[in-house]
Amino acid sequence: MSIAAAVVASEGRFGMDVASFAGAPFQQTWYDLPLWELFFNRFPCRSVVELGTGQGGMAIFFAVQALRRGMKFTTFDRERLYDDQTYKALGELGARCHLVELFDRAEFVRGLLSAQERPLVLFCDNGDKPREFREFRPVLTSGDYVAVHDWNAEIRLSDIQPELPMVLADECDKTGSITRFFRVP
Ligand SMILES: C[S@@+](CC[C@H](N)C(=O)[O-])C[C@H]1O[C@@H](n2cnc3c(N)ncnc32)[C@H](O)[C@@H]1O
Repeated sequence: MSIAAAVVASEGRFGMDVASFAGAPFQQTWYDLPLWELFFNRFPCRSVVELGTGQGGMAIFFAVQALRRGMKFTTFDRERLYDDQTYKALGELGARCHLVELFDRAEFVRGLLSAQERPLVLFCDNGDKPREFREFRPVLTSGDYVAVHDWNAEIRLSDIQPELPMVLADECDKTGSITRFFRVP
C-alpha cells in the first residue's frame, strides 16, 4: 500500500502502528510523542525517570529530550531487552540505565528518585502500574509530575490515591492517548 493510501485507510490515526523510535522498538504510539513534547514545553523538568525500559525506543526518545533540554534521564528494567546498538546510543546520549527488579529493590529505587534534581517526571510503564504508583509516588515532592501508561486498561482514576490534578487532560483525551499526566501539588 502506498503511504497516501495508508494515510486514508488509517482514518486519521496514521502512524499508530509504527512501533519504534529511531529504529529502537517501543510500546508507545507515535501520537504519544507530541504529547510528551508538549508536556516538556509546558512543564519544564530537570529529571525524567522511566520505570520499564523494554526494548528502549522510548528511552532513546527521553534521552534525546534530556540532552537537548538539559535534563537527567534514568531508566529501570529488571532485564535487558534492548540491543547493543540501543545500549550504546543510550550511553552516548547520557542516559543512566539500571537493571533492577523494582519492587525487590524498592528502597534503592526510592533513594535514586529522592536524589533526582527537581522538578522530576516519573513515567510508570512497567508490568504493574498501580503498584508502581503506590510504591514510588510517595517519594515525589511538590512540583513533580507522574505520568502513567495504559490508562483505563492497566491503571485508572481509582488507582490515583490520593487524587492528583491531571494536566494535559484535554490533549490526551482528544488524541485518544493511553498516557495520562499528573502534577503533585
Ligand atoms: C511495557 S514494557 C516498557 C515499555 C517501554 N517503556 C517503551 O515505551 O517501549 C514493560 C517493561 O517493564 C519491565 N518490568 C516489568 N515488571 C518489572 C519489575 N517488577 N521490575 C523491573 N522491571 C519490570 C519488563 O521487563 C518490560 O521490559
